[in-house]
Amino acid sequence: MKLNVEDYRRAARTVLPRFVFDYVDGAAERGDCLQRNRGGLDRLAMRPRVLRDTRGLDTRIEVFGETWQRPFAIAPMGFNGLTRPQGDVLLARAAAAAGVPFVLSTASNARLEAVVQPSSALNWFQLYVMGERAIAEQMVRRARRAGYRALVLTVDVPVSGYRERDVRNGFKMPFRPSPATLANLATRPRWLLRFIAHGMPGFVNLAEEEGSDTLQLQAALLSREMDRSLSWESLDWLRRLWDGPLLLKGVLHPDDARQACARGVDGLIVSNHGGRQLDGAIATIDALEAVLDAVEDRLPVFVDSGFRSGLDVAKALALGARGVFLGRPLLYGLAVDGEAGATAVLELIATELERTMILAGARRITELERGLVRAA
Ligand code: FNR
Repeated sequence: MKLNVEDYRRAARTVLPRFVFDYVDGAAERGDCLQRNRGGLDRLAMRPRVLRDTRGLDTRIEVFGETWQRPFAIAPMGFNGLTRPQGDVLLARAAAAAGVPFVLSTASNARLEAVVQPSSALNWFQLYVMGERAIAEQMVRRARRAGYRALVLTVDVPVSGYRERDVRNGFKMPFRPSPATLANLATRPRWLLRFIAHGMPGFVNLAEEEGSDTLQLQAALLSREMDRSLSWESLDWLRRLWDGPLLLKGVLHPDDARQACARGVDGLIVSNHGGRQLDGAIATIDALEAVLDAVEDRLPVFVDSGFRSGLDVAKALALGARGVFLGRPLLYGLAVDGEAGATAVLELIATELERTMILAGARRITELERGLVRAA
């Protein structure tokens, strides 16, 4: 029986090959940041209100003129096709059915045109700038043409974090099995059969456009070679390419939040990449308040990293976050039961959020107020 995200995590561990589970579940270096994210959330306790009429509960929010049925979204994650063939398509469908955004990663195994869900107004695209700027320019243009609504520039990966579990497993893309990996794969026959049936996920074919330099993008992604010349000035360059909402993901410092406002960014995602980048980084729930103070309501501030329940989501919203992005929980669901598993995880978190709201006396998301949370 799977009653919470941890149950899905445990089940995912039993169905995924070890190197895939470790890639999904792992974090940078000692895993301090990963733990700090959880510690920060666990240290907050709720001080509920009582005797409030909570009939007609409503969890919808409005963001950039669109309605989200729930105040959360699926975070961009690379190589989702490793967890399940067509992983991005399955996650995008689950998100579209639930009425929440799905953010497609630059490091996807699928073409962005194949992932976009026409039934949803909430297809978002995440950008890494790697190798030649022309590659990013082409991807952004294609994303706009394909109907992606918002662009998320991830800014906390000037270099890839050091994920020790990946290093120990010899895990690199493109996947080349070692004897140890092969022995482990033999213990995961269903995963293996699915991959034999569908073929290994093509390694990043985002740039698979006539005349585009696919090889160069692949080389850049393989070496995880980020463009470290990217700076605040580069936002002007992006602005010229993208006229929709532009968000920065990976902001933790209030001065950067101020800078983002001054540069005309449309939204921020307070994130430490789920503890996968700078292991010394502050917990996002602890970084949130200073960022919100710096922004002074000029733009919506979202948060992610370590959120595992509707209660966690409610805490961040009470502190003032507009919404929460969820990463690994969706991959645990995807591993266990494909699209249905992802849907089940979204439903689980929605149900937990609704119950938390009723118990806290909040009928609408805006009623999740600052006074409802305190340091425990
Ligand atoms: C990520 N994340 C990420 N972020 C991003 O902007 N582009 C990417 O390609 C990836 N890739 C990626 C792969 C995997 C396997 C994970 C788990 C995460 C970070 C992601 O968007 C998000 O910030 C964190 O996952 C949030 O933390 P939780 O919910 O996983 O704890």
